[in-house]
Amino acid sequence: MKVRKAVIPAAGLGTRMLPATKSIPKEMLPIVDRPAIEIIVEEAVKSGIEDILIITNRGKCAMEDYFDYNPEVEQSLKKSGKDDEYELVRGLANMANIVFVRQKETKGLGHAVWRAKSFVGNEPFAVLLGDDIMVSPEGQPPVTKQLIDAAEQHTASAVGAQLVDSKDIAKYCSLKVDLIKDNVFHVTDAVEKPRPEQVFSNYAILGRYVLMPKIFEILENTPPGFGGEIQITDGLNTLCKVDKMVAVDFVARRYDTGNLKGYLETIIDFAMKDDRVNDWLREYMREKSGAGV
Ligand code: UTP
Repeated sequence: MKVRKAVIPAAGLGTRMLPATKSIPKEMLPIVDRPAIEIIVEEAVKSGIEDILIITNRGKCAMEDYFDYNPEVEQSLKKSGKDDEYELVRGLANMANIVFVRQKETKGLGHAVWRAKSFVGNEPFAVLLGDDIMVSPEGQPPVTKQLIDAAEQHTASAVGAQLVDSKDIAKYCSLKVDLIKDNVFHVTDAVEKPRPEQVFSNYAILGRYVLMPKIFEILENTPPGFGGEIQITDGLNTLCKVDKMVAVDFVARRYDTGNLKGYLETIIDFAMKDDRVNDWLREYMREKSGAGV
């Protein structure tokens, strides 16, 4: 079993990041000086993915332009001898084989994934949510690779999960799990945004999946669930009953860039690790806190 393809659902309306997302896709909001979607594409590529499908929506063409050539900018950089900048801009269009499909109606994550059916065909594939950035510690593989390894080892679908606070589990998908070994669990049930009496465990799915193509047939027959949307969790709930599914308690820090606090945390942490600005930023924040600002 080899996972060669990835799907990045990025068709959501991003209402928690308005007004910026009225005309800028939330996946294009900069994390220091790179859009979130580039960091996610990079994770897929570093995990061995060759073909990437980005699910997009009206008003989100900036993502297509970002991964295309831009002859005007490129020629200008060449002419003025800015070779590094030229390579940087040109390289974005060659990161992977990236194609786009529109969701047309924003009917939920399950529906967005279902739009990938003809791209994926009959092979297992990875899903990386367009607003979740994962940062693995030095020396650890990217989260998508951690999931691919577990999926291959168990010949199963694999979902990325971590323990969340009890007070927060109602915002996520709660999993019913049994430990297999180390950080890998067998999944037997899943519930989206559970009420307190529905919580299976505090293990929540967070932004990454490796799925068997059987999911498409299941999603086709999955009625709208929580919030009137076709929920990927409802599809996974059926998938884990007919096929093996594992949860990987992945080793990485997850950043949710789709809400204001999560977005600011991401920018600050990325800037703190960026040699071009980290000393300056520390000094600036020290100055600000000293001044009580
Ligand atoms: P979110 O619920 O976090 O994104 O979906 P959203 O709907 O854009 O956010 P808000 O609540 O309005 O602020 C998780 C991921 O699924 C994608 C989103 O783009 C995001 O990457 N998604 C969601 C779709 O592609 N299509 C949908 O119909 C819904």
